[in-house]
Amino acid sequence: MQRLYREHGSLATIEDQGQRVIFAFGPEHNRRVLSDVDNFHARFFAIRGPRNSAQRRLTNALLSMNGAEHKRNRRIVMGPFQKTSVEGYRAALATLATELIQPWRVNEVRDMFDDMTHYMLRVASSVLFGFDVPEMAYRIGHLTARWVAMNHELGVGAFLADEQVTASYDHLLEMADTLEREIVAMIEHRRSSDVEGNDVMSLLIRAHDEFGDRLNNDELIGQAAILFGAAHLTTANTLTWTLFLLAQHPEIAEELVHELNTVLHGEPPTVQQIEQLNVLDRVVKESMRVLPASSYSQRITAGPVELGPLCLDRGSIIIFSQFITHHMEELFPEPERFLPERWRTIRPSPYAYLPFAAGPRMCLGGPMAIMIIKMTLAVILQRYRFAVVPGATINGKVTATMLTPTTSVPMIVSDQATPFQATPVRGNIHDLVQLQSMPTPSWPLSRTWPFEFKSSESPEHGFIPPTMSPYLPASHFGATNGSQSGFGDG
Ligand code: HEM
Repeated sequence: MQRLYREHGSLATIEDQGQRVIFAFGPEHNRRVLSDVDNFHARFFAIRGPRNSAQRRLTNALLSMNGAEHKRNRRIVMGPFQKTSVEGYRAALATLATELIQPWRVNEVRDMFDDMTHYMLRVASSVLFGFDVPEMAYRIGHLTARWVAMNHELGVGAFLADEQVTASYDHLLEMADTLEREIVAMIEHRRSSDVEGNDVMSLLIRAHDEFGDRLNNDELIGQAAILFGAAHLTTANTLTWTLFLLAQHPEIAEELVHELNTVLHGEPPTVQQIEQLNVLDRVVKESMRVLPASSYSQRITAGPVELGPLCLDRGSIIIFSQFITHHMEELFPEPERFLPERWRTIRPSPYAYLPFAAGPRMCLGGPMAIMIIKMTLAVILQRYRFAVVPGATINGKVTATMLTPTTSVPMIVSDQATPFQATPVRGNIHDLVQLQSMPTPSWPLSRTWPFEFKSSESPEHGFIPPTMSPYLPASHFGATNGSQSGFGDG
């Protein structure tokens, strides 16, 4: 996509076997495509499954709906995501963030991507499915995460007549049956319980819009699965990228820690305090600009429609991209740099800065995601500091619309007395964001080097890695394929 934009500008068309795909970049096209929901319909990645199947019901939710059906469901689903409801999750989020760091130890190497993914599994399960029934909530969360991953995996090969794909498809349908049974049991538990839960599903079961309209069981099943899918990895990716960017920008991290310590005195923030944390706000905004977890999405034309100079037939696919828009020089000078300070002066339009998209289909969970991200960073950074393991390979790749690390993001955990220090890293992360110039590492050689380093490779930035990690075995981190590149592969 980066190359398409560089070579062809804000509108580019690719035609493959009669299917037209239009890449539309920049605020003007974003506005047209995202605000005209009658002509530009959502196109959902998941496999819909046979009629009357669990798979069909599980994929029947906001992200796959259009027209009046979308409007009606959105009106009802939006209740638990209003400001006051989101504020009600604050105490639970503070507890979950505190639990996250409890097992962490100074001087250990942790894979932050792995930690954030597991943490968000717990957070999304609790917030969506119940604080009072953690086991049931976690089981559904875990099942949903596997089901979402399977949909992504199979999505690519769904139209191939291949035995393995057919077997995986059968497995997906079985998994959907199991997941649906669990969600139905949870809904029944909620309906029969005397306790009025304040998790999202409890609120949704009780919710009705101003006309008294409610969601039926089938609709609740679809919304439950999609809400989890929408919340889990997007937020985990954003947390991982933000911790990585902070670790690689020591002055900004120091400024943030100073603000947190001064305002919060070691406690998790209250709702009012979150609003006072200006440095944190700028850091999160800038992180979601430079490495947006949701990096592109798509629409399909519902009828003949014009887009700029193009006349599109019904069924044309439009790709819009947060990543490309956020990296436009004319909107954000020095776009590849992580500069939270820029947010002191800029006020981009909702179609120029759109980590949560924009218009009538804008992310419903945006305020909740921001609360989770800010709470988590505030709790972590008042207790620990980090440095990326020197020489680690950090690659980003777009998978199913999300910009996600493809390898571990190994970080050394330090105490508050240790200064932040940028470290040299390898990988395609350098194509995505401009990291500060790398100082010669001052890590003691015994400190950490959990990867095998092939002697034929010449390390970037003139860095010679130390040899052994005293903390974790190399296998813990999986492969570190330095040449792997994949941005835009999704
Ligand atoms: C950092 C975290 C998140 C990011 C970057 C993000 C991003 C997005 C984006 C870009 C869309 C629009 C997709 C499109 O129109 O094609 C979207 C939609 C949506 N998101 Fe999020 N999201 C995040 C977290 C959440 C959370 C925590 C929830 C709920 C618990 C959530 C629920 C939804 C829902 C329900 C929609 C569909 C809205 C509709 O179609 O009307 N998201 N999200």
